[in-house]
Amino acid sequence: MKTHKIAVIAGDGIGPEVLSEGIKVLNKVAELSGEFKFEFTHFPWGCEYYKETGRMMAEDGIETLSKFDAIFLGAVGAPGVPDHISLWDLLLVIRKKFDQYINLRPVKLLKGAPCPLKGVSEKDVDMIFVRENSEGEYAGSGSWLYKDKPNEVVIQDGVFSRVGCERVIRYAFELARKEKKTLTSISKGNALNYSMVFWDKIFKEISAEYPDVKTYSYLVDAASMFMVKDPKRFEVVVTSNLFGDILTDLGAAIAGGMGLAAGANLNPERKFPSMFEPIHGSAPDIAGKGLANPLATVWSASQLLDFFGHEDWGKKLLDIIEEILVEKKVLTPDLGGTATTKEVGNEVVKKLG
Ligand code: NAD
Ligand code: IPM
Ligand code: MN
Repeated sequence: MKTHKIAVIAGDGIGPEVLSEGIKVLNKVAELSGEFKFEFTHFPWGCEYYKETGRMMAEDGIETLSKFDAIFLGAVGAPGVPDHISLWDLLLVIRKKFDQYINLRPVKLLKGAPCPLKGVSEKDVDMIFVRENSEGEYAGSGSWLYKDKPNEVVIQDGVFSRVGCERVIRYAFELARKEKKTLTSISKGNALNYSMVFWDKIFKEISAEYPDVKTYSYLVDAASMFMVKDPKRFEVVVTSNLFGDILTDLGAAIAGGMGLAAGANLNPERKFPSMFEPIHGSAPDIAGKGLANPLATVWSASQLLDFFGHEDWGKKLLDIIEEILVEKKVLTPDLGGTATTKEVGNEVVKKLG
């Protein structure tokens, strides 16, 4: 029997609450499959660990994680620890060290999910974002001169390499070709006269290799307007790290909320482990109360199953999420229900069985 070794970083706030439901669901899937199993190893890394040790993860954390087939992550960030430390020293370092340069984020309105837009149905909100996940505005390059002096200056560089742009854009073209969908590039070449002009140039170059894929290019400001006014324009979308971050929270808002938004951080070459997570944060406002919606985590578990070649099970989980949304009997408060995090997780397990 095939064993998938998964490193679990539950993290902070609602992270552990939603992740334990995700694990429960994956274990049930494995049991039912009879063909594979999961071996979960838990790492206590996060803001509590930081408060005790001064580190967000163990010193050899990256080396330790490199031995796993995948990482399942809850959320990181807690009051009392500066966000740029907690995120850079755990989540972002993993994405970078493991060259998880593709961040796949579905923005798909399932049946029964609440949509704040008027006159829009499921078929109108069915996008997949391919977010550049290794460089760009998140390169971590810059400086802070004359810190705390009256003349202090900060510089934050956007780093767009040819290799970095080509590989994410090519991945998006391949996906669009495979799924017979259109591909939209979202950038900002009118104002960002180096980085985004370069991005647009590479998008155009690579599009010549894919004459069968219909393409569109939008400026990010107009794209955010059209996501709300006319979301059906977008199918496969490719964009930079920061734009992808912002637009997928907007995407979550039009596709049922943060409680339903999932993401896969992929190293497509499988040289390093990939990482699966809900895209929401640690939600300190609702943490510890059983209010968090675990369905985003279940959706990311579905992405994990796809990644391991168990697409039938991945699809099954998505169908179950949809069934739960349509029935409206067992939902957390963000979706208008009264169920707890655990009850929703149990419902998924029950429907699997
Ligand atoms: P957030 O995503 O944690 O919360 C935004 C809003 O959405 C809150 O009102 C929250 O209650 C709600 N929400 C989020 N997930 C939910 C769920 N599963 N069910 C129901 N409601 C949910 O964003 P934030 O408040 O801007 O950030 C909080 C902390 O999380 C910060 O420290 C931030 O840096 C961090 N963060 C971490 C990640 C990550 O680990 N991947 C992602 C985003 C933010
Ligand atoms: C996300 C998060 C992260 C990001 C933060 C926490 C660094 O917002 O995964 O969407 O911006 O990538
Ligand atoms: Mn985000």
